[in-house]
Amino acid sequence: MLSVTTVKALVLAGGYATRLRPLSCTRPKLLFPVAGKPILEWTMEKLSRNSFDEAIIAVNYMADAIKNHFGDEFRGVKIRYSDEPKPLGTGGPIKNAEQLLNTGETFLTMNGDILSDIDIGQMVGSHRKNKPVATIAVRPVKDPSRFGVVEIDERMQIKRFVEKPNRRESQSNLINAGLYLMEPQIFDYIPSGRKVVIEREVFPNLAKQGKLSAFKIGGTWFDVGKIEDYRAANSAMLDVVCRTGAKIEKSVRKGSGVVVSSPSFIGRDSVIGSDSIVGPYVSVGEAVAIGEGSRIVDSIVFDHVTIGKSSLVQGAILGEETRVGANAIIGAGSIVGSHAAIHDNVKLSRNVAVCPYKEVEESILQPAYVM
Ligand code: GDD
Ligand code: MG
Repeated sequence: MLSVTTVKALVLAGGYATRLRPLSCTRPKLLFPVAGKPILEWTMEKLSRNSFDEAIIAVNYMADAIKNHFGDEFRGVKIRYSDEPKPLGTGGPIKNAEQLLNTGETFLTMNGDILSDIDIGQMVGSHRKNKPVATIAVRPVKDPSRFGVVEIDERMQIKRFVEKPNRRESQSNLINAGLYLMEPQIFDYIPSGRKVVIEREVFPNLAKQGKLSAFKIGGTWFDVGKIEDYRAANSAMLDVVCRTGAKIEKSVRKGSGVVVSSPSFIGRDSVIGSDSIVGPYVSVGEAVAIGEGSRIVDSIVFDHVTIGKSSLVQGAILGEETRVGANAIIGAGSIVGSHAAIHDNVKLSRNVAVCPYKEVEESILQPAYVM
């Protein structure tokens, strides 16, 4: 699609995801499940559907988890990993992958934490027409202050790029959507051997020189930066996955009287005890055991979780291999880190975050971070 030779994409998949703690303490954010599959798998599917030959995944924090999950191929897309001994930011990884990318062809670079339904083919058409060093996908948002903000002219040239500006610095509501088509000349603009935040060191200068174009996108788009973004992305993708009703994998076992309300996803080998109610807006991972008479609503449950009888999980996230006892309540905004245990009859009322491997034996009735 990009050319007649190899079509390559670089996916930025490093960084510590501190705003997603405690879940990111034990798992890189790109492996967080969204409506039944990890964020990065949604991206890899898109690359496969668009006939990319090769994806280079730039990794550092918890690189092995990503490598073990994907190996060296995903549905026809060859995967290579570009390792960073220490995090190189968002530009450093591009320079670091120069040898792997440099076929003299246009390539796609993506922030790995973006979920979108962008039409890559149309973006390529626009890039070919405008011939900049890079084309940036842009979209309007209500609050641009958390993003890179762009100002464009009528020919879609980016006149100004300001990363995370305050209100006074930019009036535009168009933001960098985290997807770029780049020409090999981009390597000349990125210093090597150190951390480079491309949005601060490179894009503003390229914009001044008239070498950046914009491609406007609409539709579904999420940047999974904070817990609220993660929950919103999961709900939106559940809507997509469950167009014809709840999606329940074949090997799931359900007791009598179980109700699964759409949109919800239940992963392989999970077991739901009699009279339990799951959904709407619930993602359940693999091999999860839910006891009799429990209720799970508007929540994300990672793999290998056990939930006892008559418990309520509402508006919460349970990390992998967590154990929730019987008669427990996990309330809105609460997050239980992987391998933690919430004992029988314990109530976490709301916004309680529990660190991995922690045992919680008594109720916590106000927002707290349990270390
Ligand atoms: N390999 C590597 N190394 N990847 C990294 C590193 C690193 O040191 N640091 C961050 N990343 C990856 C993250 O995993 C993420 O997929 C992507 O780079 C962007 O980093 P974020 O930390 O999520 O940045 P952001 O969301 O605050 O801002 C960026 O994305 C916005 C759009 O979602 C910027 O590009 C903004 O300009 C943009 O608007
Ligand atoms: Mg982000």
